Amino acid sequence: MFHGQLWAQLLPVFVLVVGLFRLAVAVKHENFKTCEQSGFCKRNRAYADNVATLGESWTSPYTFVSNSIKIGSGHVTGTVLKSLGGDTPQSVQLPIKITFLQSGVARVTVDELKRQQKDIELRHGSSARKERYDEASSWALIADDKPDTSVKGEISQQETTVKYGPNNGYRAVINHKPFSIDFFRDNELHVKLNGKGLMNMEHWRPKVDKAGQKEGEEPKEEGEDERTWWEETFGGNTDSKPKGPESIGLDITFPGYEHVYGIPGHASSLSLKQTRGGSGDYHQPYRLYNSDVFEYEMDSPMTLYGAIPFMQAHRKDSTVGVFWLNAAETWVDIVKSKVSSNPLSLGVGGTTDTETHWFSESGLLDVFVFLGPTPRDVIEQYSELTGYTQLPQQFAIGYHQCRWNYVSDEDVKDVDKKFDRADIPYDVIWLDIEYTDGKKYFTWDSHTFPDPLGMQKQLDDHERKLVIIIDPHIKNEANYPVVSQLKSKSLGIKDKNNNLFEGWCWPGSSHWIDCFNPAAIEWWKSLFTYKSFTGTASNTFLWNDMNEPSVFNGPETTMPKDNIHHENWEHRDLHNINGMTFVNATYTALLHRDSSARRPFVLTRSYYAGSQRLGAMWTGDNLAHWSHLAASIPMILTHNIAGFPFSGADVGGFFGNPSKELLTRWYQAGAFYPFYRGHAHIDTRRREPYLLDNPYKEIITQSLRLRYALLPAWYTAFHAASISGAPILQPHYYAHPSDEAGFALEDQFYVGSTGLLVKPVVTEGAESVSIYLPPGELYYDYFTYDIHHGAGTTITIDAPLDKIPLLMKAGHIIPRKDRPRRSSGLMRYDPYTLLITLSPNGTAEGDLYVDDGESYDYQEGAFIHRKFSFAQNTLTSSEIETDTQSNKGKKRRNYLKTMDRVRIEKIIIVGAPKEWTKKTQINVEEDGEGRSVEMAFTKGDGKSANWAVVRDPGVGVGRGWSAEF
Ligand SMILES: *[C@@H]1O[C@H](CO)[C@@H](O)[C@H](O)[C@H]1NC(C)=O
Ligand SMILES: *[C@@H]1O[C@H](CO)[C@@H](O)[C@H](O)[C@H]1NC(C)=O
Repeated sequence: MFHGQLWAQLLPVFVLVVGLFRLAVAVKHENFKTCEQSGFCKRNRAYADNVATLGESWTSPYTFVSNSIKIGSGHVTGTVLKSLGGDTPQSVQLPIKITFLQSGVARVTVDELKRQQKDIELRHGSSARKERYDEASSWALIADDKPDTSVKGEISQQETTVKYGPNNGYRAVINHKPFSIDFFRDNELHVKLNGKGLMNMEHWRPKVDKAGQKEGEEPKEEGEDERTWWEETFGGNTDSKPKGPESIGLDITFPGYEHVYGIPGHASSLSLKQTRGGSGDYHQPYRLYNSDVFEYEMDSPMTLYGAIPFMQAHRKDSTVGVFWLNAAETWVDIVKSKVSSNPLSLGVGGTTDTETHWFSESGLLDVFVFLGPTPRDVIEQYSELTGYTQLPQQFAIGYHQCRWNYVSDEDVKDVDKKFDRADIPYDVIWLDIEYTDGKKYFTWDSHTFPDPLGMQKQLDDHERKLVIIIDPHIKNEANYPVVSQLKSKSLGIKDKNNNLFEGWCWPGSSHWIDCFNPAAIEWWKSLFTYKSFTGTASNTFLWNDMNEPSVFNGPETTMPKDNIHHENWEHRDLHNINGMTFVNATYTALLHRDSSARRPFVLTRSYYAGSQRLGAMWTGDNLAHWSHLAASIPMILTHNIAGFPFSGADVGGFFGNPSKELLTRWYQAGAFYPFYRGHAHIDTRRREPYLLDNPYKEIITQSLRLRYALLPAWYTAFHAASISGAPILQPHYYAHPSDEAGFALEDQFYVGSTGLLVKPVVTEGAESVSIYLPPGELYYDYFTYDIHHGAGTTITIDAPLDKIPLLMKAGHIIPRKDRPRRSSGLMRYDPYTLLITLSPNGTAEGDLYVDDGESYDYQEGAFIHRKFSFAQNTLTSSEIETDTQSNKGKKRRNYLKTMDRVRIEKIIIVGAPKEWTKKTQINVEEDGEGRSVEMAFTKGDGKSANWAVVRDPGVGVGRGWSAEF
């Protein structure tokens, strides 16, 4: 009876709790379109199905008109005709331009003549532009494409052949009828466009009233499903589609390639999965349509917050890539088909082709083809086009402490003090939306933040920074000067009727700044001056969230596609670039807010190809679940190989309360995210590291100290990214492009070129992890110097809670700073440790890049860039000449003077030869003067390597010196 009663009382609670829990972890699928619910996605998939059904009897209706072709100045131009069939054959003219760039990249751009000439009619009296959107390049690309004017081509009746690339070793064969392009490197086919005949450019056509035929009507394609041509309704919102159907589609095949990577952001694997036909894989294409996906799900091709339509295909010793430059909603299908290279020996020597099918709702067909041949080459070529990660300020790669919300300036000061009391380093504390007066950006809540400058003064005492959030929605409220200016200057995004668009976000009714408009950027700049935005100081930096843009009452939680931007482009055409333009405005504003010329820091949630130039990104609103910790690794790796390495995930998980173990493991993993920030939702319990009890607090502190000790290596890796696009985290296939066994590895990675190999623990209760080591390589454990020989197999290493599985590949020299400090700024003049991991032949190499960590003086030579090499028992430090022009001048001399007293205080040699057993002295030579320095040798126990330590060699970090062992 009692039990029965209790149960009866508890049951509703139980149901409620379970219900809430389910609610709390499930993405709202019904808020986002499936391919079937997206008109052009469904049409392009149906096109592919139709082609598959017709098989051999299908011929693509696109023809490159032979007598239209011109070759010159690095371009092939002409007309592609789309045949419409029917009784009186008609066709649509599509101007095409194929550009061969000096970098060895080919670009194929296809437009629609009638729309170029604005010879179309829009429905509903729309004021939208008539052309296809052709400004994606101006946002995404940094360089004008520099055509290689020396390329030569041959035109025959059937095909046009162009030789290009390094030593003319590349060849593009443009087949005329049907139109397709084959890209060869060294006489081998690597990339095929329209090889399967899925090219589809939906041309403009007038809407034909079913009842009566319209004059001048084009022949109607038989059997086409017109239901999604003229209007689409989803979730109660109707898209008026004034231009009718206008999608573009193309198949891109990578013959012989089994792995493709890239096209972030998705919560998916590093090696992308099949989306059609494959067993156990996805059924939906990968979607790129920047969205505020609340509580996103794991292992899914669903769209997330950002879009980088850059894909690499990789096979043993060869990498190629494509970049689909289109800012509209985009989907990508991936099919892998087994082919036998020798039909007579089925199965034997069989390989896999990866067939991809790309389609976008509108815009130009604009695709870049990269022929590698290494992952490094492809990423460099892509980065040369879209730009490099800006070299961040030093603080930005320290630890960031965030939460929604630190509730007052006293709260911030208190958290700051508690970090210090616990001896835990951090660099930046963050304020989410609650610091504002009623979600009005550029204001402070005067009750909770009466003294923002006093707060920032305290932070500055330890060289710490403040990051505050500012989003693109501007509260629509009387007496708010920012919104009045937005309205009076007409700088907001408009609705389809050309009125200022109004929607809902955090502040309630809001308008959105249109940063495609240069005048909006100018205005935005004016809002950030210290005079205008009182309470901010030179240590205030920015966070741009909700910039997909998130519109709570909009279709798919974003903006209606028929909204109108600057110069009358429809939102549809440029949606995926929108978030980047907002960050650009904020970045520009920070750059100009004072005369000190400090490097801006902006974190963004939404991004596009090119956003890496402006700051960091994070993977949005994740959950405090082990699965989200695990997924963060392939997600961040994917951004690293897609040109956007400054990436991270919320440590601890945004939604929910992590267990102490999960939080601890997350801090350990996060210590190896390029962007390292703890963040939490307003409904979660406080979880600042000092709040935990031991051993958790101590272990987390050690993870943070490890991050800080390795900051010189991280900063060097960021520098490399900033000049070459090199990933900061390198997945196995990138580091070992010949080792097929590791091509799908996505849970272990290297840090820059340090040889540090990390395998974060992402499962509960783990005592060990298995880690794959490639054949022929030697590794040492970072903490114990235990020796591991790579054999192309997996080994098991201990990983109790207090241990981060971290190995060092032999042959590297890692710069470190071992003195614990409160923030990275306080480490500026600390001495260095060099950690050397000797290869079996007794060699090692590494580099170190240092500058003031905040200004642009490095562009005038105010930096130190050293190469360290160990060979024939001698360690040398020599200068790397990155830019001899800038290596002179006053700024450089002054900088080197300030760094003159910074020295190397310790050299550790792991794998020291046994011949050194009796050695106690080494000879150091600096500036032509020699001296003898003590060395201590420790014999390993067989399991661990011998190691030697040189204490205080006293050599300058910026100087040339050698040490003979
Ligand atoms: C920001 O946008 C402006 C205007 O389009 C452009 O000139 C500038 O290069 C952009 N900045 C970056 C860093 O991309
Ligand atoms: C020594 O080994 C490293 C890596 O193990 C290799 O790159 C290098 O070429 C070798 N050097 C010599 C002189 O054999």
